Amino acid sequence: MCGIIGYTGPLEAKEVLLNGLSGLEYRGYDSAGIAYFDGESKLRLIKKKGKVAVLKEAVSGDRETSHCGIGHTRWATHGGVTDENAHPHRQGGVTLIHNGIIENYHKLTADYGLEGLLRSQTDSEVAAGVLNVFYERFGNDPLIAIRHFVRELKGSYAFCILFDDRPGEIYAVRSVSPLVAAYTPSGAMAASDLTALIPYTKEYFVVPENHIVRLTPYKIRVYDMEYNRVEPEMLAVSWNVDAAMKNGYPYFMLKEIHEQPEALKNTILPRLNKGIPDLTDDGIPDEILKGCSRIQIVACGTAMHAGMAARAFLEPVLRLPAAVSIASEFRYETPLIDEHTLVLVISQSGETIDTLAAMRLARSCHAPTIAVVNVKGSTIARESDYVFYTHAGPEIAVASTKAYSVQLASLYLICCRMAYVRGVYDNIQAAEFVKALLESVPAMETVIRGHEMIREAVSPLIHSRDAFFIGRGLDYTFSLEGALKLKEISYIHAEAYAAGELKHGTIALISDQVPVIAIATQEHIFAKTISNVREVKARGAYVILLTKESAMVEDGLADLHIRIPEIADRFTVFPIAAVLQLIAYYASVGKGLNVDQPRNLAKSVTVE
Ligand code: F6R
Repeated sequence: MCGIIGYTGPLEAKEVLLNGLSGLEYRGYDSAGIAYFDGESKLRLIKKKGKVAVLKEAVSGDRETSHCGIGHTRWATHGGVTDENAHPHRQGGVTLIHNGIIENYHKLTADYGLEGLLRSQTDSEVAAGVLNVFYERFGNDPLIAIRHFVRELKGSYAFCILFDDRPGEIYAVRSVSPLVAAYTPSGAMAASDLTALIPYTKEYFVVPENHIVRLTPYKIRVYDMEYNRVEPEMLAVSWNVDAAMKNGYPYFMLKEIHEQPEALKNTILPRLNKGIPDLTDDGIPDEILKGCSRIQIVACGTAMHAGMAARAFLEPVLRLPAAVSIASEFRYETPLIDEHTLVLVISQSGETIDTLAAMRLARSCHAPTIAVVNVKGSTIARESDYVFYTHAGPEIAVASTKAYSVQLASLYLICCRMAYVRGVYDNIQAAEFVKALLESVPAMETVIRGHEMIREAVSPLIHSRDAFFIGRGLDYTFSLEGALKLKEISYIHAEAYAAGELKHGTIALISDQVPVIAIATQEHIFAKTISNVREVKARGAYVILLTKESAMVEDGLADLHIRIPEIADRFTVFPIAAVLQLIAYYASVGKGLNVDQPRNLAKSVTVE
């Protein structure tokens, strides 16, 4: 949720930290702060409520040079959005930044006599206080102090720590919350994610859990909790710095919508062998696809909507029962899964705490897991039995777009491979499936090219308080995602309904000019959905109808009719997703909102 960064090296640290925080801001943007050693090795701290821009302004008058510091951009969990609650936090000679939640902070406050010493309402300042106690108790030895400190903590954390008497050094430690580090020609760095590191290096490592990392201008050392040195596993970044820049687009979201056709090709094409999906390079053996008797999907938010669409196309092809669960619910259930259940875990970030917990539960029930993940080396990717990486590149906008598309593409490939190895499809049928999947890519491109048309179409939406999305079957699952996109970035109250369900209550809400976005791309239920559209139209709704090119409907049924190219019903999600994303995008732009950083949200939800 929060973004953290530490830097020590020859460059001007404040600049590195502030630039890094701008790249990490999508993780949280309630408040921001930095702490650094000045030219006389004195620790200075500046933190402000508001976005990184406010912090930059506050730092701009500071003429001190510095070569070592830490920075934080916050998504509030404990304590309101105030200057005091912003990070870094300082207790005694310890200054730290934290991403995560320390669940036992009340008990720690009492156990370590911190009442009266705390200036903020945060769990993170309590952590600083506890670490300070150990630092003093163990003769200012950072490794011993950190080892004792983390033993006391319950919850999730990634910390970057400065000690007053160790200018030039940064210590980092994590459990669950993400942290990557790199030694670069420009110094040593650690950060919540790669976006902050890629301007300086392409080589990095994921900080191993429960290890302590010591960063100095000349090297990085990693120690286990017995103080043994450990060589971290180095990884290479597969995308370049451009991928994390706006490149002329007004918002990351619009850029990422445009990147979808390319991301789809990057995800699909390397997995094709003689025209059919082959998952050997991903290390996913056919046996686990063949051997299961049911499928369980777990995910959150948009990824869960991809899972719902997957359930709707997997079940009829494979004739296997498939269920989708919201990860935050699943993790506290007693699910009916065992070694014969294939669990598909879907996550862009690979760090969503509920999805991670759901996956751990599944594994504890001996169910094999395949994680469909975008971020390489993320916790879910590392802990899953098998990983299918999507190749979306970095997704910076808080509202997920390209990650959703590539998750779906991956699930189609898994579906097709399963059908093939289970004897449902022969070579020819599997190749036809893939061919139809690939035809959806230019269809999506066509929709994206016409995006200006959608801008005009959404103007009536902008002034509405509510909107309804309806569809049946696969179209219903697309509606769920359309409604989520609209509400999260335009703040218009939006609900998705299975079209046939409307008349069981919700239709009472349809009155004059209430927008209804109806999706009808599935031939076998087209007429049924259109009947439901007539019902809302008869009650005065403002109807935006999404169909395939050839769909025939009477004049006057839709106030606006958006047609997508003619492709197989099973794959209409790609052009439809683009339409729905653009509707949400232009509604947000039309209302003058910050599309990429909607209120109260953060990318990568690493707290419960
Ligand atoms: C919405 C959105 C979220 C995420 C959800 C899961 O646009 O982005 O709903 O889909 O928080 O995140 P990941 O996929 O990182 O597990």
